Amino acid sequence: MPKVKPYSILLGGIGGDSHSVGLTILRQALGTTGYEVLYLGIQNRLEKFFELAPWFNLVMMSCIDGHAAHYLHDFPEYRAQVSPGCLWYLGGNLTIGEGFGWERRFREMGFDRVFVKFVDIETVMEWVAKDLHQKDPKIIPSAVRSMINPAQAYLDGPVSESKLPEDDLKKTRGEVLQQWNTGIAAADLDANAEYLSKQPSFPAVQAMAKQKGISIVQPRSGVPLLSEQIEHFNAFKSLGVQALSYQVDSFTRNNNYRGAAEAIKESWQGGSTAVLNGFPVINHGVPGLRQIMSAVGLPMQTRHSTRDPRLLAEVSYAGGVTAFEGGAICYNIPYYKDYPLSESIGRWRYVDRLTGLYHDRYGIVLDREYFGVLTGTLIPPSLAITTCILEALLAVQQGVKCVSLGWAEQGHRPQDLAAIKVIGEMAEDVLDNMGYKDVQVNTVFNQYMAAFPQLPQMAEDLIYNSAVTAGLACPTRILVKTPVEAYKVPTMRDNLQGLMLVMQGVNVSQEEEINAKAVEAEALLIRQEAQQLFDSVIMAGGGNVAKGIVEAFSKGWLDVPFSPSMYNRGEVLTARDREGAVRYANFGSLQMDKDIKQFHSEKMTERRKLEGLKSEKENYLLIERDVLQIARGQYEGWPLAK
Ligand code: 5AD
Ligand code: GLU
Repeated sequence: MPKVKPYSILLGGIGGDSHSVGLTILRQALGTTGYEVLYLGIQNRLEKFFELAPWFNLVMMSCIDGHAAHYLHDFPEYRAQVSPGCLWYLGGNLTIGEGFGWERRFREMGFDRVFVKFVDIETVMEWVAKDLHQKDPKIIPSAVRSMINPAQAYLDGPVSESKLPEDDLKKTRGEVLQQWNTGIAAADLDANAEYLSKQPSFPAVQAMAKQKGISIVQPRSGVPLLSEQIEHFNAFKSLGVQALSYQVDSFTRNNNYRGAAEAIKESWQGGSTAVLNGFPVINHGVPGLRQIMSAVGLPMQTRHSTRDPRLLAEVSYAGGVTAFEGGAICYNIPYYKDYPLSESIGRWRYVDRLTGLYHDRYGIVLDREYFGVLTGTLIPPSLAITTCILEALLAVQQGVKCVSLGWAEQGHRPQDLAAIKVIGEMAEDVLDNMGYKDVQVNTVFNQYMAAFPQLPQMAEDLIYNSAVTAGLACPTRILVKTPVEAYKVPTMRDNLQGLMLVMQGVNVSQEEEINAKAVEAEALLIRQEAQQLFDSVIMAGGGNVAKGIVEAFSKGWLDVPFSPSMYNRGEVLTARDREGAVRYANFGSLQMDKDIKQFHSEKMTERRKLEGLKSEKENYLLIERDVLQIARGQYEGWPLAK
C-alpha cells in the first residue's frame, strides 16, 4: 500500500445506537494506513463534530440506526455558520428503508460524500485517498488530542469491594425503592423471603441438571403484556423446558419507566406487541411477577442489560424470581459509552449484597449470571472467562452462593468446547483458592450471538449444529436462538421452533465424535491466557478485585474488542485463524507472555497468507470479513471447524 501523508481525520458516530463494530474497523483501517485518526466513539452530538472540525482534514460521521435525517436536522445550519475547511463524509445505515434519493439529499445538506447503505471498507479507503490527495495535512494540537483520548481522559472514581455494611444497604434501599412507584411493594424483606422460599428454585434445578449430567435448554422471550408472557411461558413449558426467563425491554434497561408505561398502554389499545421489545418488569411490579409465578410454576430468571439494575433486582426477587443476570463489566463495557466502571461496580455491589442477604438471613440461594458474551463479536475465550470470573468474585464477596458463567459460541467446535470446560474449571479453582468453598458454579452456553445468517435455512442449520456443540460441551444451561434472529424479535412460534431444533441437536450430539486432541490443546492455551489476564488484574488492584478491574481497563490490561465504552481502550483486535478459531490480531496492552503472543501472531500470518494479504497493516480487511462472514452466509457449514 502506498504511504500516505498524515492527514488528520475525525471519526465518530451519531445517534442512539450502541453498536461500534463498523467504526472500530474503520478506525483500525485508517490508523494503519498512516492517517492521524481521532476517534470519538459513538453517540456524539453534532456540536462536538463542529467544535473539533477546524483541526481536521476530514470528518467522518457514521449513523447506523436509520435515523440520520433526524440527528442531522441542524447540520445545514451549522455548516452555514462555521467553515472549518474540512471535508465531510457521512456513512453507515442512514435510512430505515431502501434509501433511494437520500444520497442527493444529504449532499445538499453539505456532505461531500455520502454512503447511504453498507459499503465495503476498501471503497471508503479509496475515496479518502482520492479526496485528500494533494491537500496539506493539518496538525492536531495536543490539547485537542488529550481532550478526546478516551481511557486516559476519563479516570474512574474510587471503588470498594468489602462486604457492603447492612446499614448502608438499608439506607440505599430506601432511595432505590423510590425510583418508581412499584418499588415500595418490594420493601418488606421478611415477606419477600417467605414468598420466595416457596418458589421453584433456579439454583436447585441447575444443581439437579449438573448432577444428572444434562443441560437445561432455555428460550429467550419478552412481551409487554402479562397475559401474553404467561402464554409464551406455558407454551415453552409444554415442550419440557425446565427453567425460564424474560428479556427486559429497552425502556426499562435505560431506567425509563415512564416510557415503558406509555408503551404498555399502547399495547393494550392496539393489541400490538411491537411497541415494546421486551417484558417491562418494573411496571408490572411485584404483583405482576407473582401472577406469572403462580401461572407458570417454573424457576425464573431476569435477563436484561440495565444501567442501574438495583430496583430491577429488588422487584425481581420480591416477585419470586430466583436468578438475576448481569454484572459490573458485562452490563457496562459492551453496552454504554459513558458509564464509569466505578459506578457500575457500586451498583452491582448493591445487587450482590441483596442477593447474598437472602441467603445470610433466610437461607435462600439465588443465582447470579455473567454475560461472557460481551460484545458478541469475535470474543476470544480467555477474555470472556476472565471477566466472568472477576464478576463472580465480586459477587461471592457480597455473600452470593450460586454463580453462572456464560460463553458465547464462536463456531470453532474445539475452541467452544474448551471454553466451556475452562470457564467452569477455572472459576471453581479461583473461588476455591480464594476461600469461597460453598459456591455453586454453573456454566452457560449461549448459541452464536453475533449477526446471524439471513437465509432461514442457514439459520436453522446453525441453531441445530450449534446445539450439537452445546450437547457435547454439556454446560449447565443452553441459551437458545431462533431462525428469525437476523430479522426480528422472535414470536412464540419462532421460539418453539428454535427450542425444538436445539432439543434435536442435543439429542443426537452423543453420536458425534469429538476431536479430543484439539479440544485439549485449546483448553491448555485458554487456561494459560486467562490465568495471565486474571493475575494482571489482581496485580493492578494490589489484591483488590474491584480496584483491579478499574485500573486494568484504564491501563488496557483488560480491553474488550468492539466496545463502545470510553473506559475501554479499544486497542485489542481479534480475527479468525485459518480453521475459524478466534485469535488475538492485536494484543493492545494485554499482559500476556511472549510465547502466547507468538502463537497468535503465527496464526494470523497463516490466515493472511490464505487470504492473499501481505502485512499486519491489512488486518482490518480480515476483521471486516470475519465480522460479516456469518451474516453474509459466506461459510460452508456450521460449525466452521469440528
Ligand atoms: N423476545 C425474545 N427474544 C429476545 N431477545 C431480545 N429481546 C427479546 C424478546 N423480547 C433475544 C434476541 C437476541 C438475544 C440477545 O435476545 O433475539 O438473540
Ligand atoms: N444478556 C441478555 C441475554 O443474554 C440480553 C442480551 C441483549 O439483549 O443484548 O439474554
